[in-house]
Amino acid sequence: MIEILNELEALRERVRDWKRGGLRVAFVPTMGNLHDGHFSLVRLARTRADRVVASVFVNPTQFGPNEDFAHYPRTPEADARGLEAAGCDAMWLPSVETMYPYGVDATVRVQVPRVTEVLEGAHRPGHFDGVATVVSRLFNQVQPDVAMFGRKDYQQLAVIRYMVRDLAFPIEIVGADIVRETNGLAMSSRNQYLSVEERSQAAAIHRCLQVMADAIRAGHPREAVEREARERLVADGFAPDYAVVRRHDLTEPADGDAGPRVALIAARLGRTRLIDNLEFDA
Ligand code: PAF
Repeated sequence: MIEILNELEALRERVRDWKRGGLRVAFVPTMGNLHDGHFSLVRLARTRADRVVASVFVNPTQFGPNEDFAHYPRTPEADARGLEAAGCDAMWLPSVETMYPYGVDATVRVQVPRVTEVLEGAHRPGHFDGVATVVSRLFNQVQPDVAMFGRKDYQQLAVIRYMVRDLAFPIEIVGADIVRETNGLAMSSRNQYLSVEERSQAAAIHRCLQVMADAIRAGHPREAVEREARERLVADGFAPDYAVVRRHDLTEPADGDAGPRVALIAARLGRTRLIDNLEFDA
């Protein structure tokens, strides 16, 4: 049976017990409304540790003023059932007061430089400050040995890695492969906002990423590849925020450079903003 923990002391005691027994603890942070992408993180966590804790906390500090914090779906019972089936031992379900005892506006904030200044960071000002702020707290609360993050949020993973190294958290960070629907659409809580028609339309993002990777591998100039990708997305009914190819550290590669690359897209389809990426070698 999964144990649902709401009090920090109870969480700490449970993790302390496990560690005293020599057990390794894995952590999967989430905002709930869980889908197969999250459950695959839990299953991966099980292979890396003896006990798995997942948090479910809709974090107010990472939502912008025009984003969907109030309406973000909260489904803790279904989440608990899904986590249990995936092999999770404990669900950490803190209140906003437990997470931010001085209140959301008076909280100590963690601000990661550089990697937060581009792409998602540029389109969603303050978003990554909120993510780093809550994840640093979650790390202090759970004190895991290893934590799992999906590679779908490519830049988020880069932010977490930067923070963990810079603040010397003794935690191994594992990036897990993107889980896709059969049509290629990356799994995301936001997909539920898509109509049936939009769901099949949204698969065009993954196809566009593949076209971008093929074009770069074939030696096409990066800026032309990015422009054509934006045009292709618009033709397919999206409003793209960006469609870019970057080095793995998210800096801009020069044409002709070889090495690991990532193509990243953020685009709106109707009222839903979708992000996806594809890692490849150029
Ligand atoms: O990826 C998410 O769901 C959130 O950004 C995270 C890491 C749980 C922090 O709130």
